[in-house]
Amino acid sequence: MPPEPLIFPPAEADSPADIRRRPVRSFVLREGRLTAAQARAFETLWSRYGCAWSPDRVLDLPALFGNNRPVVLEIGFGNGEALLHMAARHPERNYLGLEVHRPGIGHLLLELERTGLNNVRVLREDATALLAHGLAPASLAGVCLFFPDPWPKKRHHKRRIVQPAFIEDLARVLVRGGVFHAATDWAPYADWMLEHLCAVSNQFENLSPTGDFVSRPDDRPLTRFERRGVRLGQPARDLLFRRL
Ligand SMILES: C[S@@+](CC[C@H](N)C(=O)[O-])C[C@H]1O[C@@H](n2cnc3c(N)ncnc32)[C@H](O)[C@@H]1O
Repeated sequence: MPPEPLIFPPAEADSPADIRRRPVRSFVLREGRLTAAQARAFETLWSRYGCAWSPDRVLDLPALFGNNRPVVLEIGFGNGEALLHMAARHPERNYLGLEVHRPGIGHLLLELERTGLNNVRVLREDATALLAHGLAPASLAGVCLFFPDPWPKKRHHKRRIVQPAFIEDLARVLVRGGVFHAATDWAPYADWMLEHLCAVSNQFENLSPTGDFVSRPDDRPLTRFERRGVRLGQPARDLLFRRL
């Protein structure tokens, strides 16, 4: 195993008190093995594209990107397919990618090096904490949430990342006119997001002409995973809400 980069605190066993204090999380950390190339990417590319954060600090986005371009955040980018697509299409924007899964981050770092894109920065953080404590008010032009873990069982609904507190934080960090774009192939989660976002119609306007979902915007690439869903009769639904 490669040495853990210093900015990731070493894993320590949780005490019972830690476990009680641990917030409800929207993810289960399955470490998975890094390929040799991904391990190398952490060692050699993290200092270029990665960013450390601690909850007592608000990110300085212009310093992080080295310019004042609008910043779009993608939460839970997986292996970064959509993030790379969006960043290549929009060199006039900066993209901040958040993910907790190391192999996916390693994959993205390698692709950033291969493509030479310079408008992407990466954080390995829980998005809920970063939205609540790490971003200045009105600091983002957009937030993307593509295929969040659906947590289909009722007793797990509290683990869905979209909750009233998450939407409050979204409203705080988005600029007026900034857009929240979500997509899911789990219809009940699409309805859940719609219901929670419509509940704050004083803060967000639904950009769907039919008052519910929109067709997939070109910025979100059609992935192999999604094509398979369409074949299985589980099409994705996109939600686009603009901050008022
Ligand atoms: C179902 S996957 C979808 C990945 C990708 N967006 C896609 O469309 O292929 C959900 C991803 O969100 C990440 N995730 C879940 N909760 C998160 C959180 N609170 N902060 C950061 N990432 C999170 C998970 O690690 C996982 O990679």
